Amino acid sequence: MTEQKQNRSLVIVIAAIASTGGLLFGFDTGVISGALPFLKESWDLTTGQQEIITTAVLVGAVIGALGSGRITDIVGRKKVILVTSIIFALGSILTGAASSMWFLAASRVILGIAIGISSFAVPLYISEISPVKARGALVSSFQLMITIGIVASYFSDLYFADESNPFSWRWMFYVGVFPAIILFTGMIFLPETPRFLIGKGKDEEGKKVLEKVEDPALVEEAFAKIKEEIALDQESVGFKELFSKTWRTPLFIAIGIMFVQQFVGINTVIYYAPTLFIIAGFEGARAAIVATISVGIVNVASTVVAMFLIDKIGRRKLYFIGVTGIMISLTALGMFFFMKDDLGDNLRWVIVGTVLIYIVFFAISLGPLGWLIISEIFPLKIRGVGMSVGALSNWFFNGIVAFTFLKLAWLFTDSGSGILKGTKEIIVDKAEALQYIATEFGNNAKNYKWDEVTHEIIETMPNPAGAFLLYAGIAIIGIIWGMKYIPETKGISLEQIEEHWRQGKAPNELK
Ligand code: BGC
Repeated sequence: MTEQKQNRSLVIVIAAIASTGGLLFGFDTGVISGALPFLKESWDLTTGQQEIITTAVLVGAVIGALGSGRITDIVGRKKVILVTSIIFALGSILTGAASSMWFLAASRVILGIAIGISSFAVPLYISEISPVKARGALVSSFQLMITIGIVASYFSDLYFADESNPFSWRWMFYVGVFPAIILFTGMIFLPETPRFLIGKGKDEEGKKVLEKVEDPALVEEAFAKIKEEIALDQESVGFKELFSKTWRTPLFIAIGIMFVQQFVGINTVIYYAPTLFIIAGFEGARAAIVATISVGIVNVASTVVAMFLIDKIGRRKLYFIGVTGIMISLTALGMFFFMKDDLGDNLRWVIVGTVLIYIVFFAISLGPLGWLIISEIFPLKIRGVGMSVGALSNWFFNGIVAFTFLKLAWLFTDSGSGILKGTKEIIVDKAEALQYIATEFGNNAKNYKWDEVTHEIIETMPNPAGAFLLYAGIAIIGIIWGMKYIPETKGISLEQIEEHWRQGKAPNELK
C-alpha cells in the first residue's frame, strides 16, 4: 500500500469515529417522535407539556453551543468531544430513568447541551484533521451520520414500541447510551488535531499528526502555512476578536447559511412528514410509518451522493443546484396544497413525490454545506468560538421555525378550511368534552371541536400551503444572498481561506 493510500484509510477511520457525534445528534433529536405517544399515556400529558419535552433539546443545544466554543479553543477539540460523549451517555440514562415529566424535560436539556456542543466540535475536529482534497467529503460524513441517526431512531422506536406497556419509551431513550460509549472509547485513541497542537506551540506533536493524515507531498507546505498564519494572529481574545472587522465576513456567512438551512423549513418536513402524508390522503398510522421511513432513507442516500460531489463539483455549484431545487419543490408543495380539493385522489402521490424531491435537494446542498462551511471559514485562533456561533444560530433558527410553523399555517388558513387531522379522545358527554377542550388546549381551543355525530373531539390541521410558499420565498433570498456570500472552498487549505479574509477580499472571489 502506498503511503498516501494508508493516510487515506486512517483519516476515513478517524472521521467515522468522530462523526458518531452526528449519529447521536440525529438519534437524540429523532427519538422523541416515536416516544411521545407512550409518554402521553404514561403521564397523561397535555399538548403544552409535550411541546416542553420536545423543545427542551433545542434549549439545551443553544446553551451547549453558546457556552463551549471558547473552551474548545483553550483545551482542545478532542477533550471537548470526550466530555460531550459522557454528557450524551448521562443524558440518555437520565431520560430513560425519568420519574416525572419535569425530570424528563430537565434531562432532555442535558442531552440538548451535548447535541449543541457536538454539532460544532465534531465538524471542527474533522475539518482540522482532514487532508485538503478530501475535507468536504470527510466533514460531510458528519451530516451523513445525522441522517443515519434520524432513521436509526425511527427503527429503534418501532422496535421498542409495545402497545401493552406505556413505559416502553424508557428503552427508546436508553439505547442512546451505546453510540455515546462508542464515541468515548474511539476518541480516546484519536489524536488532537494538528492545527490545534501547532497553534498551542506543540509543533513536533502537531507535525507528527499531520504526517499521518495529510497527503505526503503536502505535509511540509501545510506545516509552514499553519505556522505562518499563527504568526499573524494576535493572542486570541474569543468573542471580541470574532466581532472584529476582519472576521465579520465569515461570521455573517456562518449565521447566513444556518438561517437559510433552517428557514427553508427542513424540520417541518422531516418531523411533520406523517401529518403531511395523512393530509394528502393516506390512511392513518401505517402511512405515518412509511412516510417517515421513506423520507429518512432518501435523506441518507442523497447525503451519500453529496459526499461524492462536494470535493469534485464544489460547494457553490451544489448550493445553487440544491437551493433552486428546494425553492421549486416548496412552491410546488404550496400550490398542490392550495389545489387540494381539485386534485382529489392524485394529491397523495404528488405530495409524496414532491416531499421526496425536496429532501433530495436539501440533502445534496444545505444539509452538509451548513456544517461544512462553518467548519472552514474561521481562522484557527477563534475557530471554536466562530463555529459555536454558527451552531448556536442553527439551533436558535430551528427553534423559531418549529415554534411558528403551525401558527403560521393557521394564519394563512381561512376559518373552516382547516384539515381534519384525526381523532383525539373519545368522550361521550358533550359538557365534559367542552370542558376538556378548554382546559386541555387553552388558547388553541379553537383548533379543536366537538363532533355531534361521532361524539369525538377532533383536531384540525391548518393548510400548510401558505407556510411552504413563504419558505420558498426564503429560498429565493438564499439564492440571491449566496451569489455574494457562498465561498468556493473546494481544494483550498484552511490557512489559505484565513489569508483571503485577512486581505479583505469578498467571499465570491475565493477560488
Ligand atoms: C440540520 C437539521 C436537520 C438535518 C436533516 C441537518 O443538517 O441541521 O436541522 O434535521 O440536517 O437531515
